[in-house]
Amino acid sequence: MNIQTALNKASKILRNSSSGTPKLDSEILLSKVVKKNRQYLILNFDHELKKENIKLFNFLLERRKKGEPIAYLINKKEFWKKNFYINKDVLIPRPDTELLVEETLKLFNANSKLSILDIGTGSGCILLSILDERKNFFGTGIDISKKAINVARFNAKMHQLRNRTKFYNSDIDKFLIGKYDLILSNPPYIKQEDLKYLEKDVKDFEPKLALDGGKDGFSEVKKVIGKTSMLLKKNGKFILEIGFRQKNRILSILKRNNFFINKVIKDYGKNDRCIISTKI
Ligand SMILES: C[S@@+](CC[C@H](N)C(=O)[O-])C[C@H]1O[C@@H](n2cnc3c(N)ncnc32)[C@H](O)[C@@H]1O
Repeated sequence: MNIQTALNKASKILRNSSSGTPKLDSEILLSKVVKKNRQYLILNFDHELKKENIKLFNFLLERRKKGEPIAYLINKKEFWKKNFYINKDVLIPRPDTELLVEETLKLFNANSKLSILDIGTGSGCILLSILDERKNFFGTGIDISKKAINVARFNAKMHQLRNRTKFYNSDIDKFLIGKYDLILSNPPYIKQEDLKYLEKDVKDFEPKLALDGGKDGFSEVKKVIGKTSMLLKKNGKFILEIGFRQKNRILSILKRNNFFINKVIKDYGKNDRCIISTKI
C-alpha cells in the first residue's frame, strides 16, 4: 500500500469517529509511523509503506477512532515555543495555559533573578517554558502524581533545564520546602459532577487527578491558595489559572488570605482564566 492510499483509507475510518479533523489526524499519525514530517508524506504519495509500518499505523488509527487524543498517540504536544513529551500520566497542555507564561514574562524582565514554584506541574510545561525564557530563574515543580513528576523531569532534561529545576512528588498540603518570589498554578478545578460532561477525549483518557476539583470544584484551589500564602515571600506574585465562573469566589478567597488583586485576564474564548495577585 502506498502513502496516498493509506491516508485516504485512514481519513475514511476516522470520518466515522469523534475526530473532527480526520485528514490531519491521519497525516500526523502516519508521520509518526514513518518518522518523517507531513510535507514528506505529501511529496511522496506513491512511496510504498513497509508491512510493519502499515500494522503500526492501523494500531494508532484504532486508538484514535476510540477517541484517544493525538498528543497521547504521538507522545508530544507543543506548548509556548517548545515540544513537550506527553503521556497518559499528565494533562495535555492547553493553549489557554500559555497565558500564565505570557503574563510572567511581562512582569519580569530578562535580568530578573527569581525563585519560582509551580504547583501541580504535570508535564512541567509552564515552569520549563518560563525557565527557558528567563536564564536567571530557578524553578521548583511539585505534583501529587509521581508519574507526572517523572514526565516533568524528562522534559527538563530534554530541554537542558535540569540544572535549574527541582521536582518533588508531594501533595501541596504536605509541601513545606522553600520560599518563593513567584508561585504559579493550574490546579484541577472541575466540579466532580461536571466531569461526566467533558468531551469524550478528555474524560476517557486524561488523568482524573489533573481535572477533579472536588465536590464544588474549589477543593484543590483552596489548598493551593492557603499554601501559597505560606510559601510566597512578601510582595511576591501569584499567578493562578481558574475555571469557568470561578472568578468571584476565588477573588474573595484570595483577599481573605491577604492577597492584593492585580488583575484578572480573559482567555481567547473571552472567559476569565487567570488571576494575578500579590502577597501583602
Ligand atoms: C490541571 S493539571 C495542570 C498540569 C500542568 N501544570 C498544565 O498546566 O498542563 C493539575 C495538576 O495538579 C496535580 N495535582 C492535583 N492535586 C494535587 C495536590 N493536592 N497537590 C499537588 N498536585 C496536585 C495533578 O496531578 C495535575 O498534574
